[in-house]
Amino acid sequence: MYSLKEQEALIMRAICNLRFVKEPAGLYEPLEYMMSIGGKRLRPRLCLATYNLYSDDIGDNIISPALALEIFHNFTLLHDDIMDRAETRRGQLTVCKKWNDNVAILSGDVMCILAYKYLTACPAGVQPQVLELFSRMGAEVCEGQQYDMEFESQPIVTSDEYINMIGLKTAALLACSAKMGAIIAGAPQTQADALYDFGWQIGLAFQISDDYLDTFGDPHVFGKKIGGDILCGKKTWLLVETIKRTAGASRQRLNEILAMGEDRAEEKIAAMQQLYIDLDVKQDAIKAIEAYHEKAMECLAGKGFTPAQLESLKEFSTSLVHRED
Ligand code: IPE
Ligand code: IPE
Ligand code: MG
Ligand code: MG
Ligand code: MG
Repeated sequence: MYSLKEQEALIMRAICNLRFVKEPAGLYEPLEYMMSIGGKRLRPRLCLATYNLYSDDIGDNIISPALALEIFHNFTLLHDDIMDRAETRRGQLTVCKKWNDNVAILSGDVMCILAYKYLTACPAGVQPQVLELFSRMGAEVCEGQQYDMEFESQPIVTSDEYINMIGLKTAALLACSAKMGAIIAGAPQTQADALYDFGWQIGLAFQISDDYLDTFGDPHVFGKKIGGDILCGKKTWLLVETIKRTAGASRQRLNEILAMGEDRAEEKIAAMQQLYIDLDVKQDAIKAIEAYHEKAMECLAGKGFTPAQLESLKEFSTSLVHRED
């Protein structure tokens, strides 16, 4: 088994070596830009990590499908940044701001198509299973994104609805990444399924952490504008939990903050941060992240993984849930 650092280096090198069509430049330049401005490359790294639990034979059969996951992820970000009116990502301008919404839509579309192209390099024997898994994931991400948008204007969102939404928009892709590596390596079905569940749970932890960082992160490290979720009225883990914990005067205070307009953006962000602190929502978010991380590890118990395999997965998930960017 390669170390996680070595796996990461393999993925980074493969991404550096990616070459896209050049013409028309208006279509492919934003794509090159998006793929080259950084990012943690978690999904291809997770896919390679689960493959490497079973096989050291690392070639195009696994690298190419792993890249498909990263290209697909970047496609979702191009469209997500239009939907979330986001200005910065990875410390740079978003494609919709550097160019415009139409560019982000079409360059995103071509990335989605290219993702399928890269997927076809997986071994022929597992292709139907991989395509099924990937396509189901793609539809789930759209479903999650739709709920995410609808929830913005819905006054109450329950914790169950929130978890279902982030499961679809974020965890589905991490679950797919984890299972895909295992399938391509020819892992036993029960272990491939356990890795899917593991990926799903770390995906939930990952999105709660993303919600946390959007409000309390260091903008220079996080690379996105702090408070974006607050200004959009996103039903994040923090806000859903705050709705549950407020009544009477505190609910009135929450509603006052939510009603603040764009002209009071800074004040609104600061007031919401303070409310999250006062209600212990900030500190409890960290506990929730840890709880989903534990659940993720429980998904792997009793499935016949070796201590070395479990250790490697634990190392990966720990780095993922303790993210700062
Ligand atoms: C951002 O994903 C979208 C979410 C699911 C929260 P990442 O945080 O993995 O983004 P990059 O690829 O590292 O920039
Ligand atoms: C990410 O949700 C989900 C997808 C991109 C599918 P967010 O909207 O929270 O992601 P960021 O914070 O913009 O990266
Ligand atoms: Mg979004
Ligand atoms: Mg967003
Ligand atoms: Mg976010």
